[in-house]
Amino acid sequence: MKNIISVKNISLEYKEKDLLKKLKGKKTTIGIKNISFEVEEGEIFSIIGLNGAGKTSTLKCILGLMKPDSGSIEVFGKDGLNGRDFEMVGYLPEISYYPKSMKLNELMKYYGELYNIPKGELNNKIDSVIEKLGLTERKKDRLEKFSKGMLQKVGIAQAILNTPKLLFLDEPMSGLDPLARELVIQIILELKSQGTTIFFNTHILEDVASIADKVAIINNGELIEILDMKKTMREEKDFLLSDYFIKKVTT
Ligand SMILES: Nc1ncnc2c1ncn2[C@@H]1O[C@H](COP(=O)(O)OP(=O)(O)OP(=O)(O)O)[C@@H](O)[C@H]1O
Ligand SMILES: [Mg+2]
Repeated sequence: MKNIISVKNISLEYKEKDLLKKLKGKKTTIGIKNISFEVEEGEIFSIIGLNGAGKTSTLKCILGLMKPDSGSIEVFGKDGLNGRDFEMVGYLPEISYYPKSMKLNELMKYYGELYNIPKGELNNKIDSVIEKLGLTERKKDRLEKFSKGMLQKVGIAQAILNTPKLLFLDEPMSGLDPLARELVIQIILELKSQGTTIFFNTHILEDVASIADKVAIINNGELIEILDMKKTMREEKDFLLSDYFIKKVTT
């Protein structure tokens, strides 16, 4: 299997920008410490960890939104993502900000242009993802009228609009009701069956256990372990990810 993402020994510290704090000496917060892992083409790779463990920091480094202080990252076999690579990538941020006065279909057109989706295909693609997320009735509504969970669905719709080769989801289930969560699981599995590699962060462990091929546990910025889920389930019939996770991060 080919590696789509290769992360080697990356570390990141957040530096305090506040001037007063600077005068007292540079204060830093550790984001991630010496993390390494590989994601193979076509797999579902999930990072789990408590709040503040370093999940979002890791994801942002891979996307090139943050630069690690040390270490190296390869995506698609090259030194990080740039330019037209982003046409093959989908990204659901942890918190999305959309212009509230925009209508859903306008926002989707905007993303379609960013992804360089051919004009002749765009309307069909937009209709298809909007329908997948159950938002067809809302297509011409302004985003200011959307509930929190609906906005999360909009985030997922924009992330999959280009049928990405590599999809990053930061807490995809955040704010979603049980039906919507099930829908997102189905969408993730459908994309996987089409060859998409999926990288997602979460602390909803039941969702991970059922779909992830690999689960990386991080705690206080450090990678504790990477579980091969199929192998683990085969070897330990009664394996419960939530119990295992709690034991790992509390001992
Ligand atoms: N912009 C920032 N400035 C300073 N520190 C930050 C910043 N963003 C994150 N951190 C710190 O980096 C560490 C890792 O945060 P990160 O956002 O990666 O965690 P997370 O695992 O995604 O948590 P959550 O489950 O709450 O989303 C935390 O200690 C956090 O306080
Ligand atoms: Mg996060």
